[in-house]
Amino acid sequence: MKPVRKAVFPVAGMGTRFLPATKAIPKEMFPVVDRPLIQYAVDEAIEAGIEQMIFVTGRGKSAIEDHFDIAFELETTMSARGKSLDVLASTRLGPGRCAYVRQQEPLGLGHAIWCARDLIGDEPFAVFLPDEFMHGSPGCMKQMVDAYSKEGGNMVSVLEVPREKVFAYGVIAPGAANGNLTEIKGLVEKPKVEDAPSNLIVSGRYILQPEVMQVLDKQETGAGGEIQLTDAMAQMIGNQPFHAVTFDGARYDCGSKVGYIEANLALALERPDMADDVREIAKSLLGQ
Ligand code: G1P
Repeated sequence: MKPVRKAVFPVAGMGTRFLPATKAIPKEMFPVVDRPLIQYAVDEAIEAGIEQMIFVTGRGKSAIEDHFDIAFELETTMSARGKSLDVLASTRLGPGRCAYVRQQEPLGLGHAIWCARDLIGDEPFAVFLPDEFMHGSPGCMKQMVDAYSKEGGNMVSVLEVPREKVFAYGVIAPGAANGNLTEIKGLVEKPKVEDAPSNLIVSGRYILQPEVMQVLDKQETGAGGEIQLTDAMAQMIGNQPFHAVTFDGARYDCGSKVGYIEANLALALERPDMADDVREIAKSLLGQ
């Protein structure tokens, strides 16, 4: 079985839900406390043993490229002032470990992943949706790679949501379950609540076999008039193993404003350098 060495990060979205903040700044660069969202996803990939990061970007996203590069002026100035560069460590991925490809039109998640087909070649690969902030130790992708090393095939992370919320997500039809692993019998993107096969949603982490690219070559538009990754994956069920991994950890939906605030509060309350202060501030704001 080939190891998962490459990851695709679709980051071309315009982030209209966060306007005006996203007018000139990619939403993936929004900080949760003091690290940008994309950095958490890349750190999760590195922890899972992934070596090459492929960013599917678009116009106005060059801050992401700069973030993972050497910052000559900053580093020279910090060094001259005797400041440690440790804080920048995992932002410098090193030569050849990042690749950028542009999605020229917003045609959907399936199309974004397909834009990376030549960089993926014939290897299995991971996908990270950075809006979905998965927080835990070991991280979500590490838990998935561990399961993958036993089962192979394709994997998605799943979590339960209240049934009335399933219409916003990819939803699985679950088969047999064994520990944190559930067989997937079907997948449907953004179903009506009454048609949804379960309340287990695809939560933004995938391990996929390269054949998905050939399916995407011919994939027609689906929910929302977009080329959906979920639809392409659904076509592979039956031909290749397909499992869901239930992540043991916390998930913050940073694609929504409330989820983003929640992530900031939760991480601040875990930080020894600020937890006490933040707890006091929160209490006072809540009038307690
Ligand atoms: C995408 C996927 C969906 C998944 C969701 C997770 O939807 O298409 O299957 O459940 O991410 O956040 P989007 O949020 O781009 O509409």
